[in-house]
Amino acid sequence: MAPEAGLLERLAQRVEGYRFGLRLGEQGRVVAVGDGIAWVQGLPSAAAEEIVDFEDGSRGLVFELQKQRLGVILLDPAAKVVSGSLVSHTGERLEIGVGDDLLGRVVDPLGKPLDGLPPPELKRSGALEGASPPIVARDFVSRPLYTGAKVLDTLLPIGRGQRQLIIGDSGTGKTSLAIDTIVAQAGQGVKCVYVMIGQKRAEAAMVIETLRRRGALAYTTVVVGEATATPGMKYLAPFAGCAVAEAWMLRGEDTLIVYDDLSTHARAYRELALLMHRPPGREAYPGDIFYLHARLLERATRLGSAHGGGSLTALPLVETEEGEIASYIPTNLISITDGQIYLDRRLFAAGVLPAVDVPLSVSRIGGKAQHPRIKEEAGRMKLDYLQFLELEVFTRFGTKLEAGTEAKIRRGRLLREILKQERLSPLPPAFQLAWMIAYNEGLLDACAPNAVPGALQAILAGLARDPLALDVVRGDWLAKLRQWLAEAR
Ligand SMILES: Nc1ncnc2c1ncn2[C@@H]1O[C@H](COP(=O)(O)OP(=O)(O)O)[C@@H](O)[C@H]1O
Ligand SMILES: [Mg+2]
Repeated sequence: MAPEAGLLERLAQRVEGYRFGLRLGEQGRVVAVGDGIAWVQGLPSAAAEEIVDFEDGSRGLVFELQKQRLGVILLDPAAKVVSGSLVSHTGERLEIGVGDDLLGRVVDPLGKPLDGLPPPELKRSGALEGASPPIVARDFVSRPLYTGAKVLDTLLPIGRGQRQLIIGDSGTGKTSLAIDTIVAQAGQGVKCVYVMIGQKRAEAAMVIETLRRRGALAYTTVVVGEATATPGMKYLAPFAGCAVAEAWMLRGEDTLIVYDDLSTHARAYRELALLMHRPPGREAYPGDIFYLHARLLERATRLGSAHGGGSLTALPLVETEEGEIASYIPTNLISITDGQIYLDRRLFAAGVLPAVDVPLSVSRIGGKAQHPRIKEEAGRMKLDYLQFLELEVFTRFGTKLEAGTEAKIRRGRLLREILKQERLSPLPPAFQLAWMIAYNEGLLDACAPNAVPGALQAILAGLARDPLALDVVRGDWLAKLRQWLAEAR
């Protein structure tokens, strides 16, 4: 497509959106500037979230409205905005270019490339602060989003359009689980956006390299508000990523967005609010911090078929300290989302990876989207597992256990071994069903812990040679499983 065509279309959009009305020829002046923000006087009719133009051609975003002055986020790091610079307001909202040309690209929160390639050619744009879809446009979550992780796709299933929090201390595998989920979307028809907030450049580069090596960048856009970016840019990053994913959803597509992470985002927002002299509240966060994340996550949903049937699944990450999930930002996020995956430092240290604490985790709506066969087997298994986790506590006291209890504990430990999974090894749904049937029927009971990977491998290999659909009757599955496991012995 010639660049002029894009320009024309954008112009047409602009004309379409033009509203006639009285515009005062207001001219403002910068009175102070620093830390990526400017204070402006003389624009009494400027609105919050409005774009302003500075004399040097750079732009700003009105963030704070005060009686005598405006607090403005500078949108151009190279801006030559100084005290005394002239400012005018535009009546425009902040937008980012959206569309398929963003796939495989790494951009900043304003859509500028960070990957050294030319700017993507985008005909459309989306508002960073877009309205979330109205209730009538939404539908129930009813289709699964497979993460490829055994513990998630069976015990904590996620549906397309769900908001599922990944919560845990630093270094417990949150980023890994999110990246693995993106990698698992290959061939699933899900476009992904990965938003990084406040990571160092080297960390960001490593993640992007992983996505590239795994072929996942082809269907993913990475939005980076890096560590050295201004608090304003870090604050905008998730909204920019959301606008990109939302545009695909509105076209009827399924999308997945990862916010890595919202603790850093909350801190950036707090810093910005303090710079803007907003009154600090609990833990010095501004009073509207809850609303900030609520309006971001409200935009994740599943649209009804009359509205294209697209979906936006959101995986926000939040970091805890010392496993404290009851602190301010985590509790806010827990109450906004449809469930949480809790990663535990002790499990991580004990080599239970992914370190998902099953009893502390919940997925409130994903079960409705689970394939009925998977759900049925998982239901049986989950009960056993939760019982085992309670019983296991007693074994620490060295109590003599009766045979039945001992058997339950043995099977629970076996399941914990089965649920372990290496990074970047997504597993298909048919395999999840297969191993659960094998486990529920006791076909794996004879496996010592170190024999578990081999048995699972035998099932996976059998399934590769002889694919079975999820709907195949249980008896047939069982026969095949017995055969594959016997062959491997
Ligand atoms: N399933 C896993 N198997 C092996 N190593 C893992 C697994 N999940 C995470 N890790 C490792 O744990 C470390 C911390 O993970 P990371 O995802 O960066 O944690 P967080 O984002 O919570 O800080 C990384 O070195 C990562 O490779
Ligand atoms: Mg991380």
